[in-house]
Amino acid sequence: MTSLMSGRGRFITFEGPEGSGKSTQLRVLGERLRKAGQDVLETQEPGGTAIGVQIRRVLLDTKNRELCPTAELLLMFASRAQNVDQLILPALSAGRTVLSDRFTDSTLVYQGVGRGLGADLVYELDRIACRGLVPDLTLVIDIDTETGLARARRRSAHTEDPETRMEDQDVGFHRRVRDAYRQLAVDEPGRVRMIDGSQTREAVAEQVWQAVTPLLGVT
Ligand code: TMP
Repeated sequence: MTSLMSGRGRFITFEGPEGSGKSTQLRVLGERLRKAGQDVLETQEPGGTAIGVQIRRVLLDTKNRELCPTAELLLMFASRAQNVDQLILPALSAGRTVLSDRFTDSTLVYQGVGRGLGADLVYELDRIACRGLVPDLTLVIDIDTETGLARARRRSAHTEDPETRMEDQDVGFHRRVRDAYRQLAVDEPGRVRMIDGSQTREAVAEQVWQAVTPLLGVT
């Protein structure tokens, strides 16, 4: 699938369940692309912009237990609308490569499937917030639910991270999320690529590199 901005900069998103290692992989890729001479913008969802970071705090603060699923959905898209408008579209227009740590696929699997709000609602809001922008390539770093959750919870305990509201959901929720990612890769084989996140960090990075280089024309 091509993005609204095809012919300009390329838009690559990283996805995956908790503890998949996708954020580390995004940083490793960003560094390697810069060394290869690419102009790269890294962003994150929820977050990315200063406003998005404030929305992220509301969404992920473990104290906000009463946040209802619809408010959660709308806040995810509020953060995304700001990110698309302020950072992503201008960067793509300028010919830059944009790497985003999560995008609408996260909302599809976490809110659409995990919370049971449905794909139609997610795509309806996507049309408003993203105005036709679709990633050129999406890399799903896959990890077994228990292994990923254990990794993520160890890290949160270690850093005393208060942003664990989603991570704290029960294991059934996280299994639905993982299954939905796997289904997405089946439904959109042209855009979505699954990478086995249980391999060494170096092996995953190599598969990421092999997946992105044809799109970016770097060697
Ligand atoms: P992170 O751990 O990758 O920073 O993501 C933050 C959490 O937010 C993670 O549990 C996934 C969740 N999330 C959603 O539920 N819906 C979304 O649309 C996005 C972008 C993230």
